[in-house]
Amino acid sequence: MGCEVRTFEEQFARFFGKKYAVMVNSGSSANLIAFSSLLYRKENPLRPGDEIIVPCISWATTFHPLVQLGFKLRFVDINLETLNIDPVELRKAITPKTKMVVTVSILGNPCQFDEISKICAEKKIILMEDNCESMGAKFNGQYTGTFGLINTFSTFYSHHISTMEGGLIVTDDFELFCLCKSLRNHGWTRDQDVNSTIFERKNDDFFEAYRFILPGYNVRPGELHGIVGQQQLKKLPDFLEIRRRNAAHFGEYFKHDERFIIQKELGASQSSWFCFTMIVRAESKINRLQVLEKLKRANIEHRIITGGNILQHDVIKYYNYEVTKQTNADFAHFNGFFVGNSPVDLRKEIDYLYQTLK
Ligand SMILES: Cc1ncc(COP(=O)(O)O)c(C=O)c1O
Repeated sequence: MGCEVRTFEEQFARFFGKKYAVMVNSGSSANLIAFSSLLYRKENPLRPGDEIIVPCISWATTFHPLVQLGFKLRFVDINLETLNIDPVELRKAITPKTKMVVTVSILGNPCQFDEISKICAEKKIILMEDNCESMGAKFNGQYTGTFGLINTFSTFYSHHISTMEGGLIVTDDFELFCLCKSLRNHGWTRDQDVNSTIFERKNDDFFEAYRFILPGYNVRPGELHGIVGQQQLKKLPDFLEIRRRNAAHFGEYFKHDERFIIQKELGASQSSWFCFTMIVRAESKINRLQVLEKLKRANIEHRIITGGNILQHDVIKYYNYEVTKQTNADFAHFNGFFVGNSPVDLRKEIDYLYQTLK
């Protein structure tokens, strides 16, 4: 990790209009480091046992690092049309122990950040965005992944830009930036900014060279990831345009198809369309199995929506959590699926999908 990673970080922060970006080796690591950093800030640090609100549907490593760090999770149901956390349910889930809300804009579709930001400000709760699925999406003209105090992105192979493996943390908070840089890198002081506020430099080169201040990790990226990232970022605007053109084509076929609920952008939202979700409606005369059989026979790849409802996975037995309602998350888990989008023209493939399902 050296100047190429640093250049990519600077370009990434600038692209998204944030002050700081820290690159790590995956989006999962970005979550781990971002959550950890909140334990070590000087004012109002999070503490193990604090309650964190999360949606029932997300990728597993939205949740796992929170569990590893000793937090209690409070799961909130999703909205079936957006697939995002339901702000009304979110408000109801807040208790005096709630310290943070982690939002996940699912599969490119922005969360309702006007409502959510208002709730967090009102209740003095930290807003953190796991934006690993939604690079390039916008809510009210603002990029997702910039609404939280600290936010994460993934640059894994199948995401909006790819560094093969990779992830980034972005923030405007200098202390959190310094903490993340140390936590990704053994918890040492080696590459701290000269103005770092998280330790005081002493006048002893020998000890300063290997000085450990935090119980950190090694989740560094390599220079190759930084080089690839710089090239990919230049292409992001074009990639997004192509994804959106594919989405418009998909919408023409399926927006009014009464068999399926497809993911819906709210008025103020502009999705970056990770993929195309379809949920078989309860009142349709078909079931998911029939649809998946058709897709399989037609050689159209498909999969569960993100990771499905995490509460339906075996791992939940290791979680400290509470949930009051998960009706919609269960419905999406048992009746939904997605087919891929990609930054190439897929209009012919979407025609084929339509013909297959017709
Ligand atoms: C919401 C969310 N968070 C975190 C991750 C983890 O990212 P990575 O695969 O880069 O570890 C993903 C991966 O797809 C994700 O969708």
